Order: sequence, then C-alpha cells, then structure tokens
Amino acid sequence: MIHTKLANFSDDFLWGAASAAYQVEGAWNEDGKGLSNWDQFVRIPGKTFKGTNGDVAVDHYHRFEEDVQLMKEMGLKAYRFSVAWTRVLPTGKEEVNEAGLEFYDKLINELIKNQIEPILTIYHWDLPQALQDEYGGWESRQIVEDFTNYSVLLYKRFGDRVKYWVSLNEQNVFTSHGYKLASHPPGVKDDKLFYQVNHHANLANASAIKAFRKYVPDGKIGPSFAYGPAYPYSSKPEDILAFENVEEFNAHWWMDVYAWGEYPKVAWNYLESKGLAPKLEDGDLDLLKEGKPDFMGLNYYQTGAVEHNPLDGVTESGHFNTSGKKGTTEDRGIPGLYKSIKNPYVETTNWDWAIDPTGLRVALRRIESRYRLPILISENGLGEYDTVEDGEVNDDYRIEYIHAHIRAIREAVTDGVDVLGYCVWSFTDLLSWLNGFQKRYGLVYVNQDEDGDKDLRRMKKKSFYWYKDLISKNGNV
Ligand code: BG6
Repeated sequence: MIHTKLANFSDDFLWGAASAAYQVEGAWNEDGKGLSNWDQFVRIPGKTFKGTNGDVAVDHYHRFEEDVQLMKEMGLKAYRFSVAWTRVLPTGKEEVNEAGLEFYDKLINELIKNQIEPILTIYHWDLPQALQDEYGGWESRQIVEDFTNYSVLLYKRFGDRVKYWVSLNEQNVFTSHGYKLASHPPGVKDDKLFYQVNHHANLANASAIKAFRKYVPDGKIGPSFAYGPAYPYSSKPEDILAFENVEEFNAHWWMDVYAWGEYPKVAWNYLESKGLAPKLEDGDLDLLKEGKPDFMGLNYYQTGAVEHNPLDGVTESGHFNTSGKKGTTEDRGIPGLYKSIKNPYVETTNWDWAIDPTGLRVALRRIESRYRLPILISENGLGEYDTVEDGEVNDDYRIEYIHAHIRAIREAVTDGVDVLGYCVWSFTDLLSWLNGFQKRYGLVYVNQDEDGDKDLRRMKKKSFYWYKDLISKNGNV
C-alpha cells in the first residue's frame, strides 16, 4: 500500500525512550536491595561477554536526577523504566524495603515534575533469587500469587501518578533464554518445563492485570512482547507452511493468550502430541480470559526469514552472535517446523540483526488485524559500536535507523493502526545482558565499558539532538 499523503501523529503521541533496572541502575546491594537471579547468574564464569555484570551498570540509581534533566532537555514525553523487584521486596515477598520504594517515588516525581510521562515495567527479568531458591521461580504456580502481590504493592504506591504500566517484558525472550537455550538464568534446557513456565507466566500476567483494574482503574496496562515478524524465504508451499508454523509458535502462542486468553489450537495439538503441552488446572482458562490488556506492547528489532526444516534438520543449538563479529550467527530451527535463513534483501547489524523498517509496519499491521488492540511500541533501536571523537559521537547510522522506523510507524498509522507511543531503546547507553557495553543503544553516551572503572560521564550523541528535533515536530518530519 503506497500512500500519497501520510497521517500526522496525534498530539498526545508518547515520544519516549526506555531502560530496564538491571541494565542501568547499578547499586546492586545498596539500601536493602535483595539478590536477583541476574546478580547471581553473571557471577558464573563464561555466561556474559567478558564477564560483565550490572553491579554498577551506568549508575542510574545515583544519577537519575542528571538523567531526567537530560530527558527534559530533549523534550522527552515518556520514559519507560522497570522496577527491580528485589529493591522493593528483597526476598520477593512479605518484608517490604521502604528505601527501595522511595527510590522509585523520587524517580517518578522527578519525571512528572519535568512533564515526562512515566511508563513503569513491573518485570524486566530480574527475579528475586530467593523465589528461585524456594520454589524454582517461574517453575512453580506459587509465582502467580507472589507476582500479583508484588504488582499490587506497586499499584498502591505509584498508581496515583503512573498511568501506563507494562506487566511482563518479553516473556518469550526470558523464558526461551532461561529454559531452552540456557543463556539466561536459571540456565536450563528443558522443552517441557519451558512450556509449563510460560503457562505460569501467563497466569501471573493475567492475575496482575485483573488486580490492576481494582487499584488503578484509570490506568492502562499491557505486556511487552518481542515480536520479530517472520517472512517465508520463498513461495515454495513448504516454506509458506514453515512461515505459518513459526508465526503460530513464536507469536500466536503468546499474543493469543494475552489478547484472547486462549492457546492457539494448532500449536497446542502439536505440543500435546509430543507430550510438551503445559498442565492446566481448573480455573486457569477463566483467569487467562479475565486478564485482558489495554494495549499490546511491541518490542521490535528485526524480522526473520524462515524455510522448511526436515525432521533431521537444524536444531536450536546454533551459535548466537554476542561478540559483534558480523556473520557469526548460525541458522537455528525446530526440526519438522521451520528453520531460520539469512534474508538476502535486508542489511544486518554487526550482531547480525536484520535492519528492516518495513518489518515494523508489518508487525503493527499483523497485530492490529489479529487482535484489534492499540499498540505501544515499547522498544526499538539500534545496537552498534559507537566511538567518541573530539568529544562527540556522530551516530548517523542510529539516526538513519530510527528515522526509517518512525517513517514506517507513520505509514502504519496511515494504514489505520492505533499506535499510542514509541520508546527508543535506550535513553542512555546501558548494559546489554549478554553483550557487555560494546553494543550500545543509547541516545546519550555513557563512559563505561567492560572493565567497569570509567567515570560514567554522560555525553549527548548526535542522535540525541536529532530525536529532540523530531519530538518538537511531533514526529511529522
Ligand atoms: C530486548 C530487551 O530484548 O532487547 C532489552 O527487552 C535488551 O532488555 C534489548 O537490552 C536489546 O537486546 P541486546 O541483547 O542487544 O541487549
């Protein structure tokens, strides 16, 4: 669809930027904070790039006022951040740490004082280690009650000021890395457990959303899903079927549950035949239907081409590029369902992520068509090497990337998609979970690296000024 005239973004469009507690805060053991699964996991040799950890990260905990001043200077309309569960509930439940709540109170108040809408993510992957130790964290149904109680604590404390909430960040990513690839905590490879863990996360998500209606009736809440739309590699019927498979298993499997409270039938039948379907209990499906979101949060980075994968084909064990050495990603797939293959029509980053702005329009259109929900683009951005020369970071490549993606959003809005806002990942540079500090996303450079002994000074990149200008024109550039 080629439009000759594009619609304008609405006046209340949320031009934002995002972060996550573990990736920015640091202060990992200060003011009563408890130990999270990531605090522990990063200490296992060989798990992260050059053994990096978030002990200091970019020290946002101590420098949040300076960071908010930079947001104000930019004219940012919204800032998406996450709460570290262990800062407010050190062991995940019961005993509340008032100092932790006060930190987020101050951050939220500072944002509001500067006319920046807070978007609060309840869970961005840093699970209390105490819950992992006690009952396996997401592996047990007990997590539903503890996650709901934690959410209610936040609703009661911040619900008067925070009106946009993200429940779970990228359930598909943290469960796949945690239970299929063993590259995130708890470092397990167990397909059956993976699906059971996801069922518990779905219940926790629905239960937290259900409670939200009582405590923050005038707020909006939704999960953020990492959706990388699939493309069939060719028009061969078996490649089209592989494409249908991957959308069913990697997208509908989660988003159908969020939006409709139902598991997709084709995937369910397949998993049941393999003995992998999760165990449901009475009342589960009712709860899933009671926790419908106000919007779908979309974290979009890339698309992926897929082709037919025979029963003796490639598995999920292919190498994942966390070194920044272009071309080192290996094809991966599920025998009998699909396999990934490099799309020859799109460029890639040094980490082999496809650069595909049109894919964002495709993602928005597919979500709109299937779920009819408003969409909050809760993450989008470019992870690349940045260099400082004469005190400046000329990240034209990032500007080009963000510009093209915003253009694609505007086209989707013209198509009729209801988009609430757009958060660049990320506001400042931050710790990439597995890639250290060399893979940078920020609009603001932070002098920090894998050695962790830098002065953490903030420097505005060229993209900072560019985004500031774009916001001042409400994206209509
Ligand atoms: C998303 C996460 O998956 O992608 C972020 O929500 C993450 O926390 C971002 O940092 C970029 O991923 P990576 O691996 O390049 O840091």
